[in-house]
Amino acid sequence: MSYIDPSNPSLVSPLTISHFQKMRVSGEKITVLTAYDSSFAALFDQAGIEIILVGDSLGNVIQGHKSTIPVTINDVAYHTSCVARAIYRAFLISDMPFASYGDATQATKNAAQLMQAGAHMIKLEGGLRLVPIISHLVDQGIPVCAHLGLTPQSVNTLGGFKVQGKSQESADLMLSDAIALEKSGAQMLVLEAIPSALGKKITETLKIPTIGIGAGPDCSGQVLVMHDALGAFPGRQPKFVKNFLTPTGSIDKAIKLYIDEVKAGTFPAIEHCFKSA
Ligand code: KIV
Repeated sequence: MSYIDPSNPSLVSPLTISHFQKMRVSGEKITVLTAYDSSFAALFDQAGIEIILVGDSLGNVIQGHKSTIPVTINDVAYHTSCVARAIYRAFLISDMPFASYGDATQATKNAAQLMQAGAHMIKLEGGLRLVPIISHLVDQGIPVCAHLGLTPQSVNTLGGFKVQGKSQESADLMLSDAIALEKSGAQMLVLEAIPSALGKKITETLKIPTIGIGAGPDCSGQVLVMHDALGAFPGRQPKFVKNFLTPTGSIDKAIKLYIDEVKAGTFPAIEHCFKSA
């Protein structure tokens, strides 16, 4: 089934943040994939993916860097415009890259560039320090998705790509950061590489949707990097990754299987999840 009539794609109703809020309340899982170009974005949109993320993971999967740190605002804006041209129904979130939101003024200028390239919401990595920046962005009509847990832009301060929030103390800190980010006006929260129990606790505490990647099955939705979901990234795979292409044999069927498993709550399975210490 296609969600879009190819003869008249403009008839489709674009998804909005209030749709995701309703899904959070009803318990219907939200499906998210990254995309960086028009062709894949159109395929995902037609298959029914609800949110497309132009992640700064493009540094790894498109540019071949070892981390997301070299990615610039112009890189994300370029890929955002490629994706924005192709989609009719999906909601489009774009990542603010490393060191592009040091203060409210810099964040506004860079977020505006992404919104003008076609993003519907921007995503920022970090906790309490972002509270005044998020309030400032939201005041200016820029919707914000926050990102806690393993925040890859901080790989050098975290000492590697490690699971976060395993101890009781770090879990409590992440929960209080999540509450503060929600209060500051963030309307969505990505949780990456944390114990499933903490993903559940944060999801149950907040009123905004949570989108998990290695954060257990109880988040309001799930996200994967498209190259991981399609088995197209040659590097080492984190535990939370599942290749949906091998069992299905076509990109179209792989995306549909991803959607079905997220909606049914069967992805992520226990083998994709982390435990507390
Ligand atoms: O950059 C990205 O693709 C992301 C997701 C992995 C959540 O931030």
